Amino acid sequence: MNITVFGIGYVGLVTAVCLAEKGHRVYCVDINEQKINMLKNNKLYIYEKDLEYIFKKNKQNLYFSLLDNFNFSHSNIFFICIGTPEDEDGSVNLSDIDNIIKNIGQNSKSNSIIVIKSTVPIGTNKKIENYLKKYETNNLKFSVVSNPEFLSQGSALNDMLNGSRIIIGCEDEVVKNIMLEIYKDFNSPKIVMSRESAEMVKYASNNYLALKISYINEIANLCDITGANIDEVTNAMGYDERIGKSFLNAGLGYGGSCLPKDTKALKYISLSYGYELKTINATILVNEYQRTLLYNKAKKLFTNFKNVKVAVLGLTFKPETDDIREAISSYNIELLLTDGAIIQAYDPKGIDNFSKKYPSNKYSIKYYTNIEDTLKNTDICFIFTEWNQIKNITPEIFIENMANVVIFDGRNCYDKKQMNKYDIKYYSVGR
Ligand code: UDX
Repeated sequence: MNITVFGIGYVGLVTAVCLAEKGHRVYCVDINEQKINMLKNNKLYIYEKDLEYIFKKNKQNLYFSLLDNFNFSHSNIFFICIGTPEDEDGSVNLSDIDNIIKNIGQNSKSNSIIVIKSTVPIGTNKKIENYLKKYETNNLKFSVVSNPEFLSQGSALNDMLNGSRIIIGCEDEVVKNIMLEIYKDFNSPKIVMSRESAEMVKYASNNYLALKISYINEIANLCDITGANIDEVTNAMGYDERIGKSFLNAGLGYGGSCLPKDTKALKYISLSYGYELKTINATILVNEYQRTLLYNKAKKLFTNFKNVKVAVLGLTFKPETDDIREAISSYNIELLLTDGAIIQAYDPKGIDNFSKKYPSNKYSIKYYTNIEDTLKNTDICFIFTEWNQIKNITPEIFIENMANVVIFDGRNCYDKKQMNKYDIKYYSVGR
């Protein structure tokens, strides 16, 4: 089938590449000329496991165009993968989506299906369909389908090709069958429901994950006070299938482009209906507290970070990505720099992005691609991301390189009992 994907950011690119992998001819459209030119030249601007390989493999099925030059007669199935950033009050900014919908209305020549992948407030799909009615004629009809994405960075290609489920929010039988045809070779259960339910599934899923993380982080904090060990607790909890083993890793909380934004959005959406989501309020509050938990602990030990040499291991919001959006590292590094610390930072993939935000020539921060150099002569080490390279560091490496071996492990990377055998001051979360 011929499919157009609007918005070739993270979600759009992964979606386009996976649709091409399944044999569709995919037109990738964006307003950013630099992005389109890079893609035409086989260059990717994001790092995601397997993306480059599948992109190159399916290049013959992928076409790239700037929105202004796009010929809408190529296809009548439009996937919308435009970002929906948060406004200052936590509400969802839909202005970029509105712009593309207007373009589709003005330029489509035949009956069209608009597939909304972007995360949008409940009721948005119906509103878009109502808005497009003004462009309809006897021979031109627009149908809007909610088809939220569940892509987790680091495993996005697999999440799309073999995802836990494909949600199709659609009440029209003909459109539903076209959606099932598009996804027929995808190895996932297809679940059809109303558009409102589909929109809610996305928010409810991401908010549940955030809630689970904040819950276990509070239990970890209580473990710290009572002398219990969160690793032992979560391991035993996970045997109960109703609870499950995943998303029970205690630490400094969740970051990234989705969970922080989607929790605030759902809080805002529910308030706009006059209902207060008490669990989500608590989730957000716990995450804000958790982010700087170890910084606050360290501050009691050091009283002042002025000219203290600090090693930072891990900058990205989680491993296997170069994404630093809402990364826990940012919140802590901001505080440490304000305190006058001298930072030596390591990350396998995040340095390019992080150093754009905090360049070495403006801030007291140096970047390293080697762990030993990062630790050299430092007085304290913070760990913000559980990359395998970081988890594999032995106690000897810390001892050989640091001036004082004081480690604040925000991702519980090491066996506490093992660390305690050495002359190391080791602090983690909930243990
Ligand atoms: C998330 C959802 O998982 C995905 O389904 C959705 O479509 C987009 O949002 P992503 O943002 O890539 O994906 O990251 P995820 O793996 O969910 O992790 C989010 C944050 O939670 C990370 O900062 C991670 O470090 C943290 N986390 C995760 C924990 O602190 N503890 C855990 O047990 C799991």
